[in-house]
Amino acid sequence: MSGRTVVVTGAESGIGAACAAAFGAAGDRVAIFYHADRDAAEASAAAVRGAGGEAMTVQAQVEDEASVDAAFAAVEQAWGAAAVLVNSAGLNMTGVTVRDMALDQWRRLIDTDLTGAFLVSRRFLTGRGTAAGDAAIIHISSIHAYAVRAGGADYCAAKGGLTTLVETLAVEEAARGTRVNAIEPGMILTPMNARAQTDIDYRHALERNIPMGRAGKPEEVADLAVFLASDRARYITGARIVIDGGLSLMQALGA
Ligand SMILES: NC(=O)c1ccc[n+]([C@@H]2O[C@H](COP(=O)([O-])OP(=O)(O)OC[C@H]3O[C@@H](n4cnc5c(N)ncnc54)[C@H](O)[C@@H]3O)[C@@H](O)[C@H]2O)c1
Repeated sequence: MSGRTVVVTGAESGIGAACAAAFGAAGDRVAIFYHADRDAAEASAAAVRGAGGEAMTVQAQVEDEASVDAAFAAVEQAWGAAAVLVNSAGLNMTGVTVRDMALDQWRRLIDTDLTGAFLVSRRFLTGRGTAAGDAAIIHISSIHAYAVRAGGADYCAAKGGLTTLVETLAVEEAARGTRVNAIEPGMILTPMNARAQTDIDYRHALERNIPMGRAGKPEEVADLAVFLASDRARYITGARIVIDGGLSLMQALGA
């Protein structure tokens, strides 16, 4: 399967950028949805083209209904309805506990990581119409969808909500041929984990908690996304696939 139209949100950075390049290498047309950094988006597009795919860049704020609509409309005008959506746009937790968390912070994270997922999923589906046909939605969630951390209430709640959004969508869209799955990464070396890339002691301290002894690479998450969007995953829907080197199995450490 190649030559599909693939929309990747958050595609100018980290896991989204790796997904864009991986779908490009599979011979797909990739729409790079980016938030603010146009140069980074163009670099992602160049990587897609270098890998053998086609690329276009489109500005989109995932929490803004009109922006999401305009971005999908631009893709549909150029290439027709998308067959694959990878939603990687997201903000990270800040370490602020609930008693100190401002309502604005809570809203910003829920708007981006959860409402954004709803808006891009809905626009992807309506762009395809009601006829049946193979399609795939992949949301980049997190192990924090179920493994909570103090200081991450906004993020954990958003990713936890994303789980049930993915499951509901999977049930609603199965008969039309759209499979909907979540990828739940552990610690992946991206700009979201900037300190782990520059502070080697900090990184090693975190990596000691990972049974495989190392953080993951964005390309490893991208390989999973390409698989989940492929015909080899044709019977997988409503699933949450953990990719964390075993990290989330260590929750009872010290019990
Ligand atoms: N890196 C990790 O360890 C890790 C672990 C688990 C889950 N995740 C998830 O993976 C996804 C990608 O994160 P990453 O690690 O690549 O980080 P990243 O910061 O490199 O990428 C996040 C992307 O989201 C985009 N974005 C942020 N707000 C946006 C908005 N309002 N509208 C549109 N785009 C917006 C950013 O521009 C950026 O391209 C996120 O959903 C994150 O929660 C990451």
